[in-house]
Amino acid sequence: MKPWIRQFQASEILDSRGNPTLSVQCVLTDQSIHEAGIPSGASTGSREAHELRDGDPSRYRGLGVLQAIRAVEGELSDAIVAQQPEDQSGLDRLMIELDGTPGKNRLGANSLLGCSIAFSRALAHRRKLPLYRSLHPGQAPTLIPVPYLNIWNGGVHAQWQGSDFQEYMIVPWGAASFRDALRWSSEIYHALQSELKKSHLPTGVGDEGGFAPPTTSNRAPIEFIAQAIEKSGFGPGADVAIALDLAASGFYESSGYLLRTEKRSLDSPGMVEYCASLVKDYPFLISLEDPLSESDSESWPSLAERVGSQVQIIGDDLYCTNPQLIENGIRTRQANSVLIKPNQIGTVSETQAAIGTAVQGGWRVMLSHRSGETLDAFIADFVVASHAGQIKAGAPARGERIAKYNRLLAIEQELGREARYAGPELIRLYSRGTRS
Ligand code: PGA
Ligand code: ZN
Repeated sequence: MKPWIRQFQASEILDSRGNPTLSVQCVLTDQSIHEAGIPSGASTGSREAHELRDGDPSRYRGLGVLQAIRAVEGELSDAIVAQQPEDQSGLDRLMIELDGTPGKNRLGANSLLGCSIAFSRALAHRRKLPLYRSLHPGQAPTLIPVPYLNIWNGGVHAQWQGSDFQEYMIVPWGAASFRDALRWSSEIYHALQSELKKSHLPTGVGDEGGFAPPTTSNRAPIEFIAQAIEKSGFGPGADVAIALDLAASGFYESSGYLLRTEKRSLDSPGMVEYCASLVKDYPFLISLEDPLSESDSESWPSLAERVGSQVQIIGDDLYCTNPQLIENGIRTRQANSVLIKPNQIGTVSETQAAIGTAVQGGWRVMLSHRSGETLDAFIADFVVASHAGQIKAGAPARGERIAKYNRLLAIEQELGREARYAGPELIRLYSRGTRS
């Protein structure tokens, strides 16, 4: 077999927060170069695979990735070039064995994922297929996901200046296509901006491009957003639903769930009650991500039992895209859906395995960006390839967020009449009408 991979190169670039991150290039013997930019989270789960950072305080506040560059250009590149893997799982297995630790602690999940994604693009090039086709063996994927657009940022993504809950998302599930869904979302985003201005609230944005004004209640953003949906000529519930990522691990303390904006703390049964009342009061609410802390896993089944037939209960911090952790969650009925982020686990094929485990267990899946992003739109191709039908990639604003949405527009256009928007399927599962 003729060698086709020449080498892997890496460099230190900046992410959307101005922190260093890794860019990896896979160079082929035909001179073509295939690149990956690696994202980075701020509200990370404790069991995410290891992100290798230098820890040298004299550079980038310790966040430099020079060691990761060395790992890519040294050990990883040498081993891959020697073996010339022909498929994704072959490459990923090789790197996992070379690292030799369960959490990718030695070479870093950022180094491995950089090689894994750059390689997936090289494979697509070799197969002369678009990335979303190359990532999906067999029949061409045609399901275009419903976007969850985070238009109100709180928690750690807004330096705890606003709501305790991290993300308030609009879900344009009633649109006929992704193109229409994105237009609706942009119109609602700007209507929300006008509503905030009218209320003399600041319209600066948080890490994911959503507005981040101060508030005295975690329910107020839902009211504002519902109003912005109406002002844009759409029906909350019928046309556009709302979803939350509470990211509750971030405000869970020894005393319980500390709701700073509401000046109170709730114990675990109190927080379950709080979430159940949100579901009851807002029929257009279709999804609660991390409604409870990863350190409070015993409380998850009671919430899932209470409201799991009405809304998605999505585990992010609890599962970290790890097939074993997801399997445990399914067995103990903690939730009914899982958030999937490739850099939580560190390779493309392990991410595919995590999705497979969830789907086999009857759970729904949502693909996700990270709060620190680059212009790399890999997850847009990946969500189409994996038939997940749901993606969150931030607000319909800021270059690193819209790179993903714009790529989905292009895929939908390329598929033409074959493309099928996932909205109707989601409506069938979670429509509960408008406000009672
Ligand atoms: P992160 O947040 O990328 O900062 O971890 C995203 C999320 O919690 O879903
Ligand atoms: Zn989350």
